[in-house]
Amino acid sequence: MIVRDLRPQDWPAVRAIYEDGMRSGATFETQPPSWEAWDAAHPDLRLVAERDGAVVGWAALSPYSPRYCYRGVGDVSVYIAESARGAGVGRRLLEALVDRSEEAGYWTLNAGVFPENEVSLRLHQACGFRVIGVRERLAEKDGVWRDAVWLERRSATVGR
Ligand SMILES: CC(C)(COP(=O)(O)OP(=O)(O)OC[C@H]1O[C@@H](n2cnc3c(N)ncnc32)[C@H](O)[C@@H]1OP(=O)(O)O)[C@@H](O)C(=O)NCCC(=O)NCCS
Repeated sequence: MIVRDLRPQDWPAVRAIYEDGMRSGATFETQPPSWEAWDAAHPDLRLVAERDGAVVGWAALSPYSPRYCYRGVGDVSVYIAESARGAGVGRRLLEALVDRSEEAGYWTLNAGVFPENEVSLRLHQACGFRVIGVRERLAEKDGVWRDAVWLERRSATVGR
């Protein structure tokens, strides 16, 4: 397996993996965005994992805020194809995203995870994220107001 920068031509596979995640109930989103919208929302860092020539997962950062003071703070997304889960791909991708984010000067990464998503909570904590708390009824999904666990990873090397 290799981890590499995402190319525009990866988008159909990336979108399909995002849809897998939606079907798994991992996100508030219910429809995939257009390439143009996704591309604009993830301007800096976006990685894919490729196995036997096929994209099996992706991880990307979106800016936390347009304010200058928060330029080194990003929100993390990580999604693995349903058929490739539980084999260490998420771990490889998130570790790579953390490394690349520090190289790019990010000092804080945020992640929001549904409380029942134990694999994602475990994955983030294994990559140095800590739980900040539970945001109550943060947004509505399918008519239900859902809580989200908020995690952050503060770099020990950037922005000391
Ligand atoms: C959550 C997700 C990104 C994890 O990626 P993955 O490739 O499946 O996970 P990995 O194989 O790298 O394993 C990560 C950790 O979870 C553990 N784990 C993996 N699958 C597990 C399972 N079914 N049950 C319990 N633990 C599991 C692994 O042991 C590992 O922990 P460790 O490093 O302490 O051993 C992936 O499952 C996914 O895309 N899920 C749907 C979308 C999603 O939830 N995205 C995150 C939104 S916040």
